[in-house]
Amino acid sequence: MQEVRVAIVGMGIGKANALAITRNPRGRVVALCDLLEDRMVEFAADLPEPVQMFTDYNEMCRSSEIDAVFVGTPNQFHVPVAMEALRNGKHVLVTKPLADGEEPAKQLVELAESTGLVNMMSLSTRFSVAVQHLGQMGQRGEFGEIYYARARSIRRQGIPAWSPGFILKGGGAFRDMGVHVLDSAWWLLGMPEPVSVTGVAGAKFGPLGKGYWGKGAPPAQEYFSQFAADDYGSGFIRFANGAGLQVESFWASHQPGEVNIELFGTEAGAQLRPLTIYRMNGNMEENATIEMPENANLLAWDNVAGHFIDSILDGTPCIAPLRHGWLVQRMMEGLLKSAETGQEVRLD
Ligand SMILES: NC(=O)c1ccc[n+]([C@@H]2O[C@H](COP(=O)([O-])OP(=O)(O)OC[C@H]3O[C@@H](n4cnc5c(N)ncnc54)[C@H](O)[C@@H]3O)[C@@H](O)[C@H]2O)c1
Repeated sequence: MQEVRVAIVGMGIGKANALAITRNPRGRVVALCDLLEDRMVEFAADLPEPVQMFTDYNEMCRSSEIDAVFVGTPNQFHVPVAMEALRNGKHVLVTKPLADGEEPAKQLVELAESTGLVNMMSLSTRFSVAVQHLGQMGQRGEFGEIYYARARSIRRQGIPAWSPGFILKGGGAFRDMGVHVLDSAWWLLGMPEPVSVTGVAGAKFGPLGKGYWGKGAPPAQEYFSQFAADDYGSGFIRFANGAGLQVESFWASHQPGEVNIELFGTEAGAQLRPLTIYRMNGNMEENATIEMPENANLLAWDNVAGHFIDSILDGTPCIAPLRHGWLVQRMMEGLLKSAETGQEVRLD
């Protein structure tokens, strides 16, 4: 096989993934699937070749013209769609979070690993130029031992107002934004085994119709009265190697917006935004800032699409299998459970 024929499910974040696949010389987008036909028709006009359109993912998965499926539905449908694709012999690329809870995430990973098909998380933060740069420095040992990290994703007012999947059970700020910085920080720490998590979480804005995305009119009450998730979460994860990670995610807050990861290493430290390396040279403090290429955002998606295609066509070992999505989900669900019970949750 010289190329991968991909079907895209979900015309939200599916579009960025689809365009990256079409930018890859070995990737083709051959089908779209969404409940809303208009969205597919509109997006199809941006694609380089005609596509088949489906409103039923089950039917789409039966097509022999498709090698792989990108899953970009609301969280609550990631597992059913990915399972159907795998059962029909398709490789899968799944957006974050892997699932809307830990048990479905585990079941999907078990199925995926039993098939031998490529199964990968689409992680725009882990595959970003900046996180990959830090990862390569870490692999060369330039930070020494990374023994602590802080990760946060904070918005002033950024509760999604466009899809109830975000605010229903299985949605929430932590599974939406916390997941990105948690995944990347854990990956940069060398993916240590988590042993425990303690956290706080809740909903202080969303159920009241406050803190929604943008500066326009708040959403209708029929929308926000469905709120059944967290709009903030924060916690501390302890790892078997002694490392610690503090992670915070706020969809809305009376704080300036910020997305950042800070690494504390024995030889050097770093922060993600702006990308900066901190070292001592004798008594001198050396701070090195690293400039990002102008197309850094697009490159993240190209990295995801390229790695997925290489894993399928060349057998390149996948560095972001669904198993990683499950392990991150365990930490997230543990944090949210700890917030609910007021107790530390053991993960070992
Ligand atoms: N950077 C990232 O990686 C990133 C960014 C945004 C969203 N996401 C993830 O993408 C997912 C969707 O978020 P979004 O912002 O794109 O939402 P969205 O509402 O804009 O898009 C989701 C689409 O899925 C469609 N859909 C819903 N159920 C479906 C089904 N059963 N079959 C086919 N189509 C279905 C909807 O009609 C909608 O068009 C979420 O899980 C979110 O966490 C990831």
